[in-house]
Amino acid sequence: MGRCIVVTSGKGGVGKSTITATLGVALAEAGAKVALVDADVGLNNLDLVLGVESAVAYDVSDVEKGRCRLTEALVVHPFIENLSLLSSRALASGVSQRAFAAVISALRRGFDYILIDCPAGIDEGFHRAVSCADEALIVTTPVPASVRDADKVSDLLSAYRLRRVEVIVNRVRGDLVLKGEVLGVGDVGSVLRLPVVGSVPEDDEVLRSATVGKITDRESRHYRAICLIASHIMLGTSSLYDCTAKYRGILGLFRKRAR
Ligand SMILES: Nc1ncnc2c1ncn2[C@@H]1O[C@H](COP(=O)(O)OP(=O)(O)OP(=O)(O)O)[C@@H](O)[C@H]1O
Ligand SMILES: [Mg+2]
Repeated sequence: MGRCIVVTSGKGGVGKSTITATLGVALAEAGAKVALVDADVGLNNLDLVLGVESAVAYDVSDVEKGRCRLTEALVVHPFIENLSLLSSRALASGVSQRAFAAVISALRRGFDYILIDCPAGIDEGFHRAVSCADEALIVTTPVPASVRDADKVSDLLSAYRLRRVEVIVNRVRGDLVLKGEVLGVGDVGSVLRLPVVGSVPEDDEVLRSATVGKITDRESRHYRAICLIASHIMLGTSSLYDCTAKYRGILGLFRKRAR
């Protein structure tokens, strides 16, 4: 039976969809069979982040209404055959909690990992996504407003029977961390009182890739940071990407000044 992990945040725009997509690629490239589920019903964009939007013919509401089978609604990534996406274009009213749970149960039988891209906020869509999951990854950026929302989400998650709740700190500016101008990854973990399992750098590569609808380059800092999270999920390792490394030493000094 596959493990179902919800990627959530509270605050919007912190990088949930980007992390869900890239983590899906990293897990799939490590040999796992992965299904990504866009639970941002009606405001879905995981198809765009993955660059498969033109291949989406059906979505989760079509499965619920019996207009297609689950296997027909799953879009297999054109270059990564063990990575599939279930989109959700329908309006929120179109997908019931029960139908969503049934779809996740069915996916558990065919996939090693099911990653659910949770909508921002803490209303119906959040609960629909979280109630199906075994584990949660809370994504936050290292700014107080985002950390506070992550804290609220962490409180809400305690009402669910989740095996693990862990944190990913995204968009970390290593140069500002070294100057002591922003929260470090450790500070975020202490505030949230949760284990931090991912430290992902702010990386212009993400924006470039998003613009042309592809996953970040495998050599990018972003992808390497996400691979460490994939390794944590699959093997239980606990290495965090060092977002400050680029700004240390002589070269780092120039990089810091150039920003
Ligand atoms: N590590 C990063 N470095 C640079 N840009 C990033 C990074 N992570 C995400 N972004 C950019 O931030 C923006 C928001 O990302 P994304 O859509 O993944 O967030 P989200 O949490 O899913 O948003 P929403 O709550 O609206 O669903 C996108 O333009 C994305 O390219
Ligand atoms: Mg999103």
